[in-house]
Amino acid sequence: MLAATPPMGWNSWNMFGATVNAGIVKQTADALVAGGLKEAGYQYIVIDDHWHGGRDAANRLFPDPHKFPDGMKAVSDYIHARGLKFGIYSDAGPLTCGGRPASQDNEEIDAQTFAEWGVDFLKYDWCSAEDTRANAEYRYSRMSAALKATGREIVFSICEWGHHRPWLWGAKAGGQLWRTTGDIGDSWNNVIAKWSGVLYGIDSIGFEQQRGLESYAGPGHWNDTDMLVVGLRGRSREITGAGCTDTEYRTHFSLWCMLAAPLMLGCDVRSMDSSTHEILTNREAIAVDQDPLGQQGFRASRNGMAEIWKKPLADGQLAVGLFNRGDTIRPIPAPWSDLEISGDYQVRDLWAHADMGVFDSLYSVEVEPHGCALLRLVPVK
Ligand code: GLA
Repeated sequence: MLAATPPMGWNSWNMFGATVNAGIVKQTADALVAGGLKEAGYQYIVIDDHWHGGRDAANRLFPDPHKFPDGMKAVSDYIHARGLKFGIYSDAGPLTCGGRPASQDNEEIDAQTFAEWGVDFLKYDWCSAEDTRANAEYRYSRMSAALKATGREIVFSICEWGHHRPWLWGAKAGGQLWRTTGDIGDSWNNVIAKWSGVLYGIDSIGFEQQRGLESYAGPGHWNDTDMLVVGLRGRSREITGAGCTDTEYRTHFSLWCMLAAPLMLGCDVRSMDSSTHEILTNREAIAVDQDPLGQQGFRASRNGMAEIWKKPLADGQLAVGLFNRGDTIRPIPAPWSDLEISGDYQVRDLWAHADMGVFDSLYSVEVEPHGCALLRLVPVK
C-alpha cells in the first residue's frame, strides 16, 4: 500500500521558495543521509514550486536550465542512488502558485514526464484552478488516473488547502494525503507577512471541524496540516522575524505526530543546529506519528488553556499530548476518565526519554508555556 504510514521527507518550499536548485537538492539528499534523518524515516525529497523552465515543442515540461543544468532525471538518479525517493510539484490549474506552467489539460503528458524522471511523489497544488468542488474532484481524479496509467507508484499529495473538504473525496480522487489548511509560517500564533503561525495548522478551519477529521485518516489516506517549520529560525523564504522558540518547535512536532500528519521537513537540513536535529530525530515521537494502527489523534478534553490530546496506538497503547496554549507554566493533570481508559498504565515521557512509573487513574505534569508533554501509555497486564 502506498503511504501505509504518513509520508516523511523534506520539501524545498519553506526554506528556499523560488531559489531551489539542483545543488541545494543534492546537498540536502547527502545531509539527510549523513545526519541520520534518512534512518529516522525521512525519505521523500520534494522539489516544490519554481523548478520549471517551460514546455518544449512537444509540450513536455522541462526544468529551468540555470537551476537544474543537468535536467531532472539526473537529480532524481542522485536522490535514488542514496536510497531516498524523489518528489516534485505541479498544480491543477493552468499556472502554479508561483505563476509557472502547470498541468491543467496536460495531466497525461505531465504524468508521463514525471514517471520518466522517476518521480515517486507528486504534490499537486490548487492555484489558478476553477475553485469549485466539482472541478477539484475532476482535476485531482484526472491527475491521479494519469499517474496510475504510467504504471509507476507515485504518492499523490492533494494540496487544495481544505477549500472543498478534501477529506470527503480525496481518497476516492486517488490522493494519499490532502492538505486541510492553508500555509503555515515560522511563528506561533501571529500572521507574519501573509503566513499564519503554527497554531493555524490545527485551528484554521475551526477546531471543532478539524477535530472531526480524525475519522477520515488511516493507512493510505492522511490529513495534511502542512509542512514543518521546525528549525527555520526565522530564515525561511521570506523574512519572518525570530521564528518559533525551541519549545514551540517541539510542540509543533508533537502535535503533528499526534495528528498522524505527514512529516515534511522545511528547514535547511544542511546546516541544522543540534536542537533542531534532536527534535526532528526524536524516534519515540516519530513512532507515534508512524504507528501502524494509523489512527489520527484528537483533543480529548480542554480546560482553559490546557488541552489533553489522545492518539490510540497499536497493541492497546496510546499516545497522550498535554498541551499548554497559555503564556504561563501550569500543571496539566490527565485523568484516565478524560482519556476513556481504566487500569494500570506504564507512562513514558517521549521528550525526556524516561519511564515515569505506573499510574492507575491520573498522570499530571507541569507544562511550560506553549509546551506539550508527549507521553506513551502502555497497559500493564
Ligand atoms: C501554495 C502551497 C504551498 C507551496 C506554494 C508554492 O501556497 O500551499 O505549500 O507549494 O504554493 O508556490
